Amino acid sequence: MKASPIIETSHLSKVYKMDSVETVALADISFVVDKGEFVAIMGPSGSGKSTLMHILGALDLPTAGTYILDGQNVEKLTDDQLAGIRNRKIGFVFQAYNLLPRTTAMKNVVLPMAYAGVSKDEREERAKKYLTMVGLADRLEHTSNQLSGGQQQRVAIARALVMNPAILLADEPTGNIASNQAAEIMAIFQNLNDEGHTIIMITHEPDIAEHAKRIIHIRDGRIVADGNGHRQRKVNGKK
Ligand SMILES: Nc1ncnc2c1ncn2[C@@H]1O[C@H](COP(=O)(O)OP(=O)(O)OP(=O)(O)O)[C@@H](O)[C@H]1O
Ligand SMILES: [Mg+2]
Repeated sequence: MKASPIIETSHLSKVYKMDSVETVALADISFVVDKGEFVAIMGPSGSGKSTLMHILGALDLPTAGTYILDGQNVEKLTDDQLAGIRNRKIGFVFQAYNLLPRTTAMKNVVLPMAYAGVSKDEREERAKKYLTMVGLADRLEHTSNQLSGGQQQRVAIARALVMNPAILLADEPTGNIASNQAAEIMAIFQNLNDEGHTIIMITHEPDIAEHAKRIIHIRDGRIVADGNGHRQRKVNGKK
């Protein structure tokens, strides 16, 4: 079967400007992810991983370079088209969870389906199913502020999965989760990947990254290695 790209980045850069200070968060990033890949992104704090994830999720535009998402040039899409793509195609697990405060776990997970026009009964059924899958069956009516960090992270994972997204973008999805639960979350990701979903996961934990078939290492906003765990291809001559 011929692999087909779902993510194509070409010479992406991102420069944040604050007053007169410029921060180069990404510089000359180029890589392709095919449908069905499971990729981990690793790199030191501040190396540009979350910035890259926001661009891949079409939440932010690069300063320069092109990004083709499932055949469409993101720069050329309207805000409405982008919102539709984010809702239907992409599941996000943000580093800071981004749950609605003072809102129950159920409601947080139901909302993306409400935007997509899923019927009320089905929304509740699916929300329960995914919250149960991440081990929160007994926390459905707890609000975000009544949940621990790891529990909030699991609500965020259920919310990301409930629309059955073609692409899952996860920023440190197990960062606040106990290791036995992290293994369960990785099993869920693995299942999703086995079903053909594309996963891009940021992590600083090597044993979590090992679940991916390919690891991209970023340093100072550049890709320094890209490959599977055993045969890392060095990029730009750097290690
Ligand atoms: N909105 C912003 N405005 C200005 N600078 C920013 C902004 N967001 C990120 N940066 C800067 O861009 C660089 C990359 O940040 P980013 O959040 O992508 O790093 P990261 O690799 O995700 O780090 P961590 O592992 O700590 O989450 C950092 O130097 C950061 O200070
Ligand atoms: Mg980050």
